[in-house]
Amino acid sequence: MTHDKKLWGGRFTGAVDPSFAKFNSSFAFDRRLFEVDIRASIAHCNALHGAGVLTADEAEQMVAGLQSILDEATSQADYFDEPAEDIHSFVEARLVEMIGEPGQKLHTGRSRNDQVATDLRLWLRDAIDQSSLRAKEMQRAILDLAEKEMETVLPGYTHLQRAQPILFAHWCLAYFEMLVRDRERLLEVRKRVNVLPLGSGAIAGTSFPIDREAVARELGFESVSRNSIDAVSDRDFCVEFTSACSLIMVHLSRLAEEIILYATTEFGFFELSDAVATGSSLMPQKKNPDSMELVRGKAGRVFGHVTALLTTLKALPLAYNKDMQEDKEAVFDAFDTTAGSLEVSTLVLQTLSLNRQRMRMAATKGRLNATELADYLVRKGVPFREAHETVGKAVLKAIEKGVELGELSLDDLRRLSNKLENDLFECLTLEQTLATKSQFGGTAPERVAEALVSARKLL
Ligand code: ARG
Repeated sequence: MTHDKKLWGGRFTGAVDPSFAKFNSSFAFDRRLFEVDIRASIAHCNALHGAGVLTADEAEQMVAGLQSILDEATSQADYFDEPAEDIHSFVEARLVEMIGEPGQKLHTGRSRNDQVATDLRLWLRDAIDQSSLRAKEMQRAILDLAEKEMETVLPGYTHLQRAQPILFAHWCLAYFEMLVRDRERLLEVRKRVNVLPLGSGAIAGTSFPIDREAVARELGFESVSRNSIDAVSDRDFCVEFTSACSLIMVHLSRLAEEIILYATTEFGFFELSDAVATGSSLMPQKKNPDSMELVRGKAGRVFGHVTALLTTLKALPLAYNKDMQEDKEAVFDAFDTTAGSLEVSTLVLQTLSLNRQRMRMAATKGRLNATELADYLVRKGVPFREAHETVGKAVLKAIEKGVELGELSLDDLRRLSNKLENDLFECLTLEQTLATKSQFGGTAPERVAEALVSARKLL
């Protein structure tokens, strides 16, 4: 049986060239809209009944027919293995085949233009909820890890040069914050996705007294679109969604890069679990962080979808144009890629091992406490610029001697400033260096502990 019968055959005398039919078809990918297409069709059916276009009996047959199409599809693996122009024509043809004449009334007062916009919004609303949930699971993994490692420190880097010691948990919470914003952004996009286009027809609206508000309620839309022309031609929400995904991928790729770096022999801070690493087919000693490399790499492909969508939409005349069929693969793949990356990143964090000693060592070697010494001088009344200069000289001395600042003798130090006294050594310890960053948002252990509690609450 074929469901490839055209929805628009009447005006045509010639047949479509098979190569164009293949080119024109979106069925290979828009079958993902199958379930939402049925849901929207059921709502449309009810609206047609409400408008007096369908008898109760017809509406009942149609709804039952649409429901059994859903059931058929779940029980038959090869259900979609046949040519069709798109998911909309497929479902309609199947309905007519199943219930006969009443099925031919389904498309009354509707166009595929408002239908596909409705389907895509329904699908995306769900995809947004799933994306947000995945991001939340990752936030949970971040917090679990941070809470387990309250004592762990690592060097904070700027310019990838050792800067100041930070708590590992503080580093974790930086990524937590990015995901907070990501989820807020998804929620923002969701608001604009959750608007019903159905009832806009092909461009001008519908001539049947369909209760659009009732359709919106049935499908869980927050409002109905105000302008039929805009409703069928608007794909801003696709750009917004893929942009939100892109920023998630920016964040995941930054984390991936840090994990890859910290898992090198040179850094040796982290080790990835065997569950998320691979070996080399040639070099037996290798353990490669493929999971994180792929997340880093897949970011580019999600960015590509934003560009593709913008380029497709740019300068498109109103209203619907077939160009817009290109929207779906971008949106689907952005979702799949981002959701997959969130899932794998979560797994990496859940199974990550830390070399705490090495991390601590790295945080205490390289004069990361130099700022502390300058702050010490400031507290003794020295202007910061002068203190900076003095400590710079102390650093030079320490480099010359191959020691840390705290290993210089008091004599050496006093030659640079007579404000330096014996109590300076105390402020150079790792504990002090951390503890002094005690303002809100800083890495002092008590602040980080509080930040962890509020992060938990947020979840
Ligand atoms: N497959 C089409 C799409 O994805 C559905 C809408 C087609 N509408 C039309 N008038 N040809 O955009």
